[in-house]
Amino acid sequence: RLQYVAGEFETDDVFNKLKQTLGDSGNVIFYLAVSSRFFKPIVERLGRAGLMKESDQGFRRVVIEKPFGHDYASAKDLNESILKFAGENQIYRIDHFLGKDTVQSILAVRFANALFEPIFRREYIDHVQITAAETIGVEARGGFYEQTGAFRDMVPNHLFQLLGMVAMEPPNSFDAEAVRDKKAEIFDAIQPLKPNDVVLGQYEKSATMAGYREEADVAPDSQVETYAAARVFVENWRWAGVPFYLRTGKRMTARRTEISVQLKAVPFLLFRDTPVDTLVPNVLTLRIDPEHGTTFDFNVKVPGPVMQVGAVKSSFKYGDFFDEKPNVGYETLLYDCMLGDETLFQRADSIETSWKAVDRVLHPEGRPLPVHGYTAGSAGPKEADELLKADGRAWRPLVDEHTQKADHDDKN
Ligand code: BG6
Repeated sequence: RLQYVAGEFETDDVFNKLKQTLGDSGNVIFYLAVSSRFFKPIVERLGRAGLMKESDQGFRRVVIEKPFGHDYASAKDLNESILKFAGENQIYRIDHFLGKDTVQSILAVRFANALFEPIFRREYIDHVQITAAETIGVEARGGFYEQTGAFRDMVPNHLFQLLGMVAMEPPNSFDAEAVRDKKAEIFDAIQPLKPNDVVLGQYEKSATMAGYREEADVAPDSQVETYAAARVFVENWRWAGVPFYLRTGKRMTARRTEISVQLKAVPFLLFRDTPVDTLVPNVLTLRIDPEHGTTFDFNVKVPGPVMQVGAVKSSFKYGDFFDEKPNVGYETLLYDCMLGDETLFQRADSIETSWKAVDRVLHPEGRPLPVHGYTAGSAGPKEADELLKADGRAWRPLVDEHTQKADHDDKN
């Protein structure tokens, strides 16, 4: 049942061959998992060849991979160009994070429980940390990384999508437009990032691992970042003044994608001789990968005759309750595309506002942002620690404090 049509993306020939092969009827999805410079010429040629024309006989949809543009202007231009040849309802801008069950579950945790949603607001939340740490390096993708860098690869897309899920207002329904409207409001409310809100890093060789500059297809003096951290504010009634700290990096201590929502401290402590600042803050952590579940840090009385308060953690693991099937995100999203459900795909306006929020960082006035070194296998550059320290806060450890267990990418 497989046929292979070969040709060059930037010639008409292959599109005419495709048209002959596909005929006029039947449902068709064009999946553009190609270098981003080809998105525009391909959609244009699909349109010109009549391949985007839908009928009662079938739909025509196009899935577009990331990165969708490389800054605000290019994303806007790409949207304008492709929307000349396909309707917004035919375009599925994919971000595989949104297909992960643990990411979709953020909305379930927030909106299906009376306990959490009321406290997800500035009155109760001190700050939120969103982490996507990997132990792998750039692998065979040196060429791609040299063009893209960690910031563009992860921040305005994957990490902003997680932020959107944590921060959005409840939609009126799970209708695609209702959900996407609420998320769009958040991207629109992100205060444009300033260069001093961002720290970039590049991994350097360790005793056992090569540095980024030693990887294949990477310039020996490359200034491209493999780590990015950012302080983000959402300027709306619910979140004003609450920092969202985002970080992502390759070759870090552990593999860990998670969102930690840290509550404010209690106002004072009833128990004699126990100062408030010895209490652990309450933290709800939504663990996305490779552990799937949630943890909650809170305080209880330590057993014994003395009234002493101690920190504990309660955790829920998906595998303990459900029969987990491997799911990286793509399966769900491609199935949704077949069904015509756009809820988990990115709309043109959201993509543009996300890029807009980071444009000053991508095009700083004056000198480019410095890229700080960090040792492969560490927790990132010390400058990223200082970003939080300046606010009186610290990153959550990447290694489990109790078990000292660090997760690694499967590929390691
Ligand atoms: C991709 C990035 O979109 O996401 C990669 O291009 C990154 O650099 C990957 O490794 C992370 O995805 P996941 O699902 O493995 O966390």
